[in-house]
Amino acid sequence: MDENVKKKVMLSGIQPSGDLTLGSYLGAIKNWTELADQYDCYYFMADLHAITVRQNPADLRRRTLAQMAQYIAAGLDPEKNVLFIQSHVPAHAQLGWVINCYTMFGELSRMTQFKDKSAKNAENINGGLFTYPALMAADILLYQADYVPVGGDQKQHVELARNVAERFNGVYGDVFRIPEPYIPKVGARIMSLTSPENKMSKSDRDPNGCVYLMEKPEDIMRKFKRAVTDSDTENCVRYDPAAKPGVSNLIQIYAAITEKSIPEVENEFVGCGYGVFKPRVGEAVVECLRPVREEAERLLRDKAYLSEVCRTGAERAGYTANRTLRKVYKKVGFVI
Ligand code: TYM
Repeated sequence: MDENVKKKVMLSGIQPSGDLTLGSYLGAIKNWTELADQYDCYYFMADLHAITVRQNPADLRRRTLAQMAQYIAAGLDPEKNVLFIQSHVPAHAQLGWVINCYTMFGELSRMTQFKDKSAKNAENINGGLFTYPALMAADILLYQADYVPVGGDQKQHVELARNVAERFNGVYGDVFRIPEPYIPKVGARIMSLTSPENKMSKSDRDPNGCVYLMEKPEDIMRKFKRAVTDSDTENCVRYDPAAKPGVSNLIQIYAAITEKSIPEVENEFVGCGYGVFKPRVGEAVVECLRPVREEAERLLRDKAYLSEVCRTGAERAGYTANRTLRKVYKKVGFVI
């Protein structure tokens, strides 16, 4: 690529509100690793977002650093990607406030994640949980992101960011680039292994529904062997999410891991029952995650290296973010 042509910008984040799952790996991180040569990439640990739900401080700190180690271990080279912790770049909170003032109550009320999370945390429906999509819009707009690589559940939030950016630009001129969601064809919605009608989620109360990146191979195998398959009598590996949500989820996982298409996976298992199929999916997941886990464990022992990555990442991110923030402050009439 011509060095003088400015690359398009990719940006995404994950909340360190639970240990990383196979869902966030296949829906997000795995797809980020191939983008570094073609795009300017920014990836962060969304710790500001995580405290919209009550966190144990020691766990939050541990998971934030573990997530950084897992990003790198999964193939995000910190030289080629800007990797940082959100709270290390104050511009997120600063632009977040401004964006709040351009986001409508009605828009925020329609966010399905807010409805889900407030149902799950009825005792703590705080202001941050409600205005969280405005902060997420600020995360994206600060870096003038062209694309936001996320799983399907975040599409609505990215669309809100587009609407708010258009509204702001309508008043003040061309301040923000209008971002687009970038959603994988396979793996955009990995479901729970025990209740395949629900998304696999790091805050799932049932630990058997969820596979974690750092989990031991024998535990991963056990979860796949016990994964819920469907109560039809067919016992055949066929993709049909409405009629066969359990098996279809496993097909999707296997396809995303092996980078095969869904028909290719169906063909591979013609004549095999669930008893053969389920352990094969488990083995594929174990082998895919093994090098990530081992490298992340090694990196986590190298505290000096990790803090240096965090420091340089925040410096590089802050440089870009502050340019947008200054522009915004000027436009809205702050004295700078
Ligand atoms: P979070 O932390 O819930 O999820 C992180 C990423 O993983 C994807 N994901 C899944 N994909 C497929 N199947 C699943 N079961 C699954 N579970 C999670 C999510 O779609 C997401 O891409 N609001 C964001 C974090 C965020 C952000 C941002 C993202 C904050 N600011 C700016 C992009 C840009 C969130 O809560 O993701």
